[in-house]
Amino acid sequence: MIVPSKVFLPLGLALVLLWPQSGWTQTSQKRTEQTAELLATFLNAGRVIVERNQSLINDPRKGNKGFTSEVFERLVLDEFFQQTHIDLKHPPPSLPSPSKELLAALLLASKEVVEDAQFVINQRGIGYKNFIPATFGSQTARKFSNRSHVTIKQTTLNPRNLKNTPDAYEEMVLKRLATQPASTTPVVEWIDGGRLLRTLMPIYYSEECLTCHGNPKGILDISGYPREGAQVGELAGAISIQIPSDHR
Ligand code: HEC
Repeated sequence: MIVPSKVFLPLGLALVLLWPQSGWTQTSQKRTEQTAELLATFLNAGRVIVERNQSLINDPRKGNKGFTSEVFERLVLDEFFQQTHIDLKHPPPSLPSPSKELLAALLLASKEVVEDAQFVINQRGIGYKNFIPATFGSQTARKFSNRSHVTIKQTTLNPRNLKNTPDAYEEMVLKRLATQPASTTPVVEWIDGGRLLRTLMPIYYSEECLTCHGNPKGILDISGYPREGAQVGELAGAISIQIPSDHR
């Protein structure tokens, strides 16, 4: 059975990362691919944490929710560890250097997004606050990308938020993914003659998503957007990562 909101690390990558410092050296291309996959896994872990705490965040009777950036950090590091067996508090020596720094930067950006949302999250008397996995994900991706040579974005065909509009490459891959059976394996490809790595990690709809993205199609959801009429297991979109090869 698939667990759509979770992304499990492919066994191959897990083995490479857990491999002790043997004589085996990774090519820089391989390292860049792993970096992209780990960044997508981390952003997705953050989305999962927001989703799990959604009813707390949306509770109109409660003022202070205790969903601070420190609490978020603990939960997201735990979730990332569950999925990758990498403890970012004590990164293993086998974690390649660009991954380590970039993951730290992504953690910082995501904590800042939770921090910036504290006023909204802790408001009493308001249920839906528009602090959901998608808004968390886009804000974190934007903050991180503005400070880095690596670009992270959430995208889908027919996005609600036009900032998430796919580029030509993303559109092509999303169309392909939409016709294939659900798989958590990311699409990894070097384009521009090997100068740019592009990675798309697919996200699928689970039951919790359908209150907004499900049926009845076209009827407005709580966030004010028309529902997509989606079903469990359908492609929801992807986390898209770009890393130029001249930065490692
Ligand atoms: C409370 C309603 C709600 C729920 C529940 C919800 N979403 Fe969304 N989703 C939205 C809104 C609103 C946006 C647009 C956010 C924005 O303005 O950036 C969005 C955007 C997205 C996007 C980005 C692409 C786009 O359309 O802009 C993806 C991908 C997505 N949702 C997937 C999911 C998945 C997967 C789940 C379940 C794990 C989920 N959503 C649950 C309301 C919801």
